[in-house]
Amino acid sequence: MHPHEAIGLHRKTLRGYIWAQQRHLRTYMFWRVLSVLAITPFPILSQKIVDVAIPAKDVQSLIAYTGICFLLLAIHFASMRIGVGALSIQAQEIFRKLRARIFHKLNFMHFGFLDSVQTGRLLSKYAFDTSNIESTVIQIVTGIVPEVLRSALLICALAFINLWLLPIMLISLPLFAIVRFYYFQPIEKNNQAVRIARERMTGQASEFISAIKLVRGFGQESVAKEQMGQLSDEYSTKRESQMKLNQSLGYILFSVVTTISLFAVAVSGWMVITDKMSMGAMVAMIGALPVCLNTVNIFSQFSLQYLLGAESYRSIKELMDSAYVEKWQGERILDSMRGEVEFRNVTFSYDKEKEHRAIRNLSISIKAGEHVAFVGPSGSGKSTVVSLMLGFYAPTEGEILIDGIPQADLSIRELRQSCAIVMQDNLLLSGTLMDNIRFGKPAATDAEVIEAVRYANAMEFIEKLPQGLMTKVGERGVSLSGGQRQRIAIARALLRNPKILILDEATSALDYESEKLVQEAIDHLAKGRTTITIAHRLSTIRSADRIIVLQDGELISKGTWTELAGRDGVFKDLLAAQH
Ligand SMILES: Nc1ncnc2c1ncn2[C@@H]1O[C@H](COP(=O)(O)OP(=O)(O)OP(=O)(O)O)[C@@H](O)[C@H]1O
Ligand SMILES: [Mg+2]
Repeated sequence: MHPHEAIGLHRKTLRGYIWAQQRHLRTYMFWRVLSVLAITPFPILSQKIVDVAIPAKDVQSLIAYTGICFLLLAIHFASMRIGVGALSIQAQEIFRKLRARIFHKLNFMHFGFLDSVQTGRLLSKYAFDTSNIESTVIQIVTGIVPEVLRSALLICALAFINLWLLPIMLISLPLFAIVRFYYFQPIEKNNQAVRIARERMTGQASEFISAIKLVRGFGQESVAKEQMGQLSDEYSTKRESQMKLNQSLGYILFSVVTTISLFAVAVSGWMVITDKMSMGAMVAMIGALPVCLNTVNIFSQFSLQYLLGAESYRSIKELMDSAYVEKWQGERILDSMRGEVEFRNVTFSYDKEKEHRAIRNLSISIKAGEHVAFVGPSGSGKSTVVSLMLGFYAPTEGEILIDGIPQADLSIRELRQSCAIVMQDNLLLSGTLMDNIRFGKPAATDAEVIEAVRYANAMEFIEKLPQGLMTKVGERGVSLSGGQRQRIAIARALLRNPKILILDEATSALDYESEKLVQEAIDHLAKGRTTITIAHRLSTIRSADRIIVLQDGELISKGTWTELAGRDGVFKDLLAAQH
């Protein structure tokens, strides 16, 4: 099994993360247990006040008992404060690791998966579900031990005063179990429905938000609004029933708790009258009762939170355990890549059913340092060839060799390290232009960046920006024009100094003058490295060593510019159409 296939999520993983914090958890527990221990003698002290100090009219022991109570209370609050402070700083570490793990997994997911899932859905998992798990783990890990301990000790203290108090207090437990039995399954189901509705809603919203220009440009706001409205309604409905269920559980438990209190008062009152119990014991019990019953309440909150967390855990687990990852078993690293690329009878379909073949039985061999251009009508499979070469998708049939070694044996990351690509739609990340160009080679010096910018003919417009290379660009580089973005992407690729340079319609958005300049720079840089150019404008591939013409995913002819131009066929037709 390749290491990245192991990035799943198991209870063990999460437990491991929690366990890594055991030192801090122990410190926290120490203080919380101390705070619980401090208040345990309360019922005994109040019983003593009622049964001993008051009948004897002994003011001094009254003051002494209450004094002890004050002291214990001070210890209780102080240690609680220290414990909570110690933990909250450290607990975040667990969730930082969890988020890192999710992101790591996303980096390995197959493009087939990433193509098919809305970004917003993944975002919902990454942001919402992790914070749900966070609240759950924190509440349960930090809350259960002190809560259980507090009630158990209080009940022991009461039993110590009068054994009869034990059954009166414990009667709530079976009732709680019954309530749990009836309520948990519907709550669980509903939580899942809420989560799915939330993912659908955020998924759609993120899609509309990122395509807002499209929506408004076509005046389709009402369609978008309606669709979003529907999804939002669906989510609200599910949330409503979630709240109703939770509330009714809370209400039922409250009724149970109140009934038990009344019952306990009646029983102990009767026992006081029949002299089976002292007045002090009854007072002690009435004092301890709310604390113990509150534990029941807290438990019901814990269990609701637990169910929420469990659902979020499942949601993340679904992604984390998915085996739909890039299956690159290869470990081989090429010491110095020459840049030979060979396709051997490659057939490829995007769909799993393999109905539509984007590439059909393609065989090509590109020598190191060769400049090869791909041309062909839109949808003929040019970009797909590049995606296959970079290992974004694996061939359905046939194989791809890099420097004579099957791509599947290579470390795909290493291979990509030696490539640079200028894509059809060039995204800029938020940050400065400098950051964006440096993305190609983080260790590059300023001088190297500037050189790449000059070659890409981008200096001319960057100089006009008030902050030059330090200009911030928006999330999608919205402040730059298409042609400007393209030049930044070219600079980014050139800076990388790759063995294989891939240009997919890299100069298509440039005006004639800029295109000529950039083309010159590219031709200059293409020397000594394998270059693959895809272009609709045939004038830009004149200098290519070889041109490959694709149609419907098939290679239909190849040759040099002059050879192809002299031959009847698609190339000649395309050429004629462009003149
Ligand atoms: N991510 C994808 N999922 C499914 N099908 C795809 C995907 N990308 C491309 N295709 C399909 O594969 C075929 C080849 O597409 P490709 O993008 O390689 O064409 P192209 O030659 O680059 O076209 P263009 O010149 O318009 O960029 C097309 O029929 C297209 O519908
Ligand atoms: Mg394309």
